[in-house]
Amino acid sequence: MRTKHQIKEAMFQDPVFNATDHAFLKDRDYTIVEDPSAFSMIDDTTFLFAPHLEWVHLAKALEGANPSLCVCGDIDGFISDDSIAKKTSEDVHRVLRDYTDKMTWKAMPDFDGGHNWCFFLCIYWLRGQEGAEDDENMEHRTMTALEDLHL
Ligand SMILES: C[S@@+](CC[C@H](N)C(=O)[O-])C[C@H]1O[C@@H](n2cnc3c(N)ncnc32)[C@H](O)[C@@H]1O
Repeated sequence: MRTKHQIKEAMFQDPVFNATDHAFLKDRDYTIVEDPSAFSMIDDTTFLFAPHLEWVHLAKALEGANPSLCVCGDIDGFISDDSIAKKTSEDVHRVLRDYTDKMTWKAMPDFDGGHNWCFFLCIYWLRGQEGAEDDENMEHRTMTALEDLHL
């Protein structure tokens, strides 16, 4: 990813960021944007990193945008689990389903050795964007992009 798709800028948004979060991210020269500005910045060149972002907010991020790479919850698992999905609106389902219809996915592997933040996450990438050989490397390329962020 680093060699094929240069990451020009990393933007961070979370309405609960506190002063320590701001200092940590600014120290690394990252840009913090106010909620909901980041959603309108997403396009088909975006790597959206949204681990365990609530479905209703993920739908806002994916409405009208198809980020070519995304780490987020298991969308198909969510939609097919009636007990959880029925608490969420049909509009949210439609946006999430429209997105996964265009994507290839695989489960997110353990990233940094035993920390459970990777559990129940998936990597999604735009089907047909990459060659078959590149698709096989998507997991490695996603991990490399995350390592590059030095978080
Ligand atoms: C379930 S927590 C997951 C936290 C962490 N990413 C993890 O995997 O443990 C969901 C996070 O999404 C954040 N969030 C809620 N609304 C958001 C929004 N509009 N934009 C960005 N982040 C948001 C919440 O504040 C919270 O930090």
